Amino acid sequence: MSAERPTVTPIDLPPVAPDSRSHPPMPPVRVERRAVDEAESRAANGPDWDRYADDYQATHGEFLGDAGFVWGPEGLTEERAGVLGEVAGKDVLEIGSGAGQCSRWVRARGGRGIGLDLSHRQLQHSRRLDEATGVAVPSVRGTATDLPFADASFDVVFSSFGALQFVADIDGCVDEVVRVLRHGGRFAFSITHPTRWMFADDPGEEGLVASQSYWDRRPYVEVDEASGEVSYVEHHRTLGDWVSLLAGRGLAIRRLVEPEWPERHDRVWGGWSATRGRLTPGTAIVAADLLL
Ligand SMILES: C[S@@+](CC[C@H](N)C(=O)[O-])C[C@H]1O[C@@H](n2cnc3c(N)ncnc32)[C@H](O)[C@@H]1O
Repeated sequence: MSAERPTVTPIDLPPVAPDSRSHPPMPPVRVERRAVDEAESRAANGPDWDRYADDYQATHGEFLGDAGFVWGPEGLTEERAGVLGEVAGKDVLEIGSGAGQCSRWVRARGGRGIGLDLSHRQLQHSRRLDEATGVAVPSVRGTATDLPFADASFDVVFSSFGALQFVADIDGCVDEVVRVLRHGGRFAFSITHPTRWMFADDPGEEGLVASQSYWDRRPYVEVDEASGEVSYVEHHRTLGDWVSLLAGRGLAIRRLVEPEWPERHDRVWGGWSATRGRLTPGTAIVAADLLL
């Protein structure tokens, strides 16, 4: 265990306005499916995650574990999945690191984990957990489409439901991952399983009825009714899109993990639930190695 502990200053987390996802959205939004570019995605999602961070950590923090590594709502841990391979002694970057739980797990196993996230508030929670656990994750505020690191700096780049489905410029994002990875390095990430985009995001029976085209790549967009501005965006790529994207950049896919819903797991997380999870995959985890 390398519980490296740089000096950190205690932080104060002042309250922020409550918002969204597990509450009725505030302010009210309308949902659209339409093209949204990278600048608009980022301008919406950064502030959205700032507003949502307190609620997200309060609701899911215990499930995630302060120094735990969970790949998605099914609760599959990296301990069991072994998707990253050995992390001890390796330089490891997490994109969309949130409160840094996964990178803290990496650090506790001897990896040199570093976090990057768009949301200042999420990173404040990361500092809070650094203090609480004594395992500090050096973290930087930035975007996955413009990584502030030198070429070939990392052995592993990963994301657990982090930035990938929030960026419009996924080509630029994967280019950046490839740039900062060393030859032979591993890129691993979890995303909403692409097939879920056929269904309403509803944890109940409604969410089992296919009502949207799998091939409709227009993102899910929430628009603030009052201002008319985009307030939240998620982007969809099919499984075929992912294979072409990774293979086209010299990334050889090693694994595609589709975690099954565990027996007696009754947690509801957004559109994820036992009702749906027993029948359809909710999460896809991809691992690929840089061959070029
Ligand atoms: C669902 S959370 C996942 C965080 C963490 N991996 C976890 O399991 O709790 C998604 C994270 O992605 C971050 N994010 C969204 N867009 C991003 C971007 N363009 N670049 C980096 N991070 C981004 C959000 O701020 C948020 O912290």
